[in-house]
Amino acid sequence: MLSWDEFDKEDQPATPAAAAQSAQPAQANNALNDQASSAVEDARQVNADDSDAVARAKAALDQLDIQEGLDDLEGAAARVQVGDKQMINARADLNQLVPFKYDWAWQKYLDGCANHWMPQEVNMTADIALWKSADGLTEDERRIVKRNLGFFSTADSLVANNLVLAVYRLITNPECRQYILRQAFEEAIHTHAYQYCIESLGMDEGEIFNMYHEIPSVAKKAAWGLKYTRAISDPTFNTGTVETDKELLRNLIAYYCVLEGVFFYCGFTQILSMGRRNKMTGVAEQFQYILRDESMHLNFGIDVINQIKIENPHLWDAQMKDEATQMILQGTQLEIEYARDTMPRGVLGMNAAMMEDYLKFIANRRLTQIGLKEEYPGTSNPFPWMSEIMDLKKEKNFFETRVIEYQTGGALSWD
Ligand SMILES: [Fe+2]
Ligand SMILES: [Fe+2]
Repeated sequence: MLSWDEFDKEDQPATPAAAAQSAQPAQANNALNDQASSAVEDARQVNADDSDAVARAKAALDQLDIQEGLDDLEGAAARVQVGDKQMINARADLNQLVPFKYDWAWQKYLDGCANHWMPQEVNMTADIALWKSADGLTEDERRIVKRNLGFFSTADSLVANNLVLAVYRLITNPECRQYILRQAFEEAIHTHAYQYCIESLGMDEGEIFNMYHEIPSVAKKAAWGLKYTRAISDPTFNTGTVETDKELLRNLIAYYCVLEGVFFYCGFTQILSMGRRNKMTGVAEQFQYILRDESMHLNFGIDVINQIKIENPHLWDAQMKDEATQMILQGTQLEIEYARDTMPRGVLGMNAAMMEDYLKFIANRRLTQIGLKEEYPGTSNPFPWMSEIMDLKKEKNFFETRVIEYQTGGALSWD
């Protein structure tokens, strides 16, 4: 058990004289500052009992050029005003979190923390028995579990790498970066969840993790995403011109609207449909928590994209709108192909044609969320229960297998 008593003692004034001094009001700040800097200089003096290593450490600090270190920091040195903050190409100091400009980003960070969960908390016992029993699942159902674990186990790594190695550096707003850090950790938890399912079920790890190289419908989705990371993950890439700003925008649309906004939806629907039929409820519960996180990632990404458009209206020209529409339509087409590959026949009360309708319904949502027109007019949602899972406030887990209470208090709200 961690005890803070020992640490607290060090804060106590050591002598009665020191106690008296600390009780004084701050009457002479300058005098205190002078005293403090001479105390710092004293501490830096090399003493007779200092070892060679300690003496060298003190001497090295004498050479430290503070200005050089500060000059390396991103942004200007002044105190930050809200008006200085921008989503991209800001010059304000990125280490000063407040004052907030985008309260929604900070709120999403808090909501993400309140929804914290870990894969090992989900009971996988029934899944293991079902997976290992000879007649527990049909071949079509087994194919769905394998394909989706294969796709997702690497897709979340692609998303995490894109965030950490490319996007984070280019988003010049500290409250959004704070959310991106939270999201990156959630992506690590998702990869962990897939690994946990694969290990629990005793699957061939090589087959599942390498599926994005071996199965065309999985490989195409991964390759499509990676194409949009290539330019901006180059360490020499920078925003600041119309073309490079558009390149970042393309990446955000590819990852938030298509990878997290379209490519996850066939798999989520299939696995959650299994859970609704009381099959693979542990895997389904993992996917349910992941879906809740993902809908927040998606909403954050849409807010970022729309904010960039507001602050840089010249980027959102006819050509960019057409490109964005094309990207979402291409992604939808790849996901329709994935649905056909994973469901050659009707299974779990659904089939590839119904999934196609659902994906067109989702595509319309993604298009309108970033201000584009629907491309599949008149499409309706054949799986309204999916919206219930995403949209309803849930006090407990959808499959009612358990209730989670986290210290953060706000666990399992679906907002
Ligand atoms: Fe994820
Ligand atoms: Fe995500």
